[in-house]
Amino acid sequence: MDIEKVNSMDFGEFVDVFGNVVERCPLVAAAVWSRRPFSNAAELEHHFLAFIDALPQSGQEGILRCHPDLAGRELQRGTLTAESQREQSGAGLTNLGADERLRLAELNAQYRARFGFPFVLAARLSDRAAVPRELARRLRRPPALELRTALDEVKKICRLRLADLLGSNPAKL
Ligand code: GUN
Repeated sequence: MDIEKVNSMDFGEFVDVFGNVVERCPLVAAAVWSRRPFSNAAELEHHFLAFIDALPQSGQEGILRCHPDLAGRELQRGTLTAESQREQSGAGLTNLGADERLRLAELNAQYRARFGFPFVLAARLSDRAAVPRELARRLRRPPALELRTALDEVKKICRLRLADLLGSNPAKL
């Protein structure tokens, strides 16, 4: 999709197309639409990331809380968004054995209890062995640092999803 096509979209179409580049947070796309026209894909991406950065901490935590757990209940029930399903499946999280699933469920619960939001990681850049390792590592970090890391992961997911839609390559992630 080229940038002229993006710039020609009305509000409804833009939110339909870009509404899930930040998981279950169409408000971000709704806000970014006001910034059109965009000169190129990089500028469009910039507005998504800048909106997230400019939110107060409560809004940033809200974005994190809109994410489902990795290999969690939504995956078992088949209620993930198409994007999350594809990413979790690509990381091998849809084929975990019972032991691995239980271990992740325990770690996800500990993480949520400690930080008050779910563990978010760009699953497409990870795999089933690395996810529990990374979760256990991040569980030990100070909350302020972890909020920043989790938001960096949201931004990586956003950039990858935008690149899929635009047929472009994200610059270094
Ligand atoms: N990484 C990529 N997609 C997702 C998601 O939907 N939830 C979480 N927690 N991490 C992700």
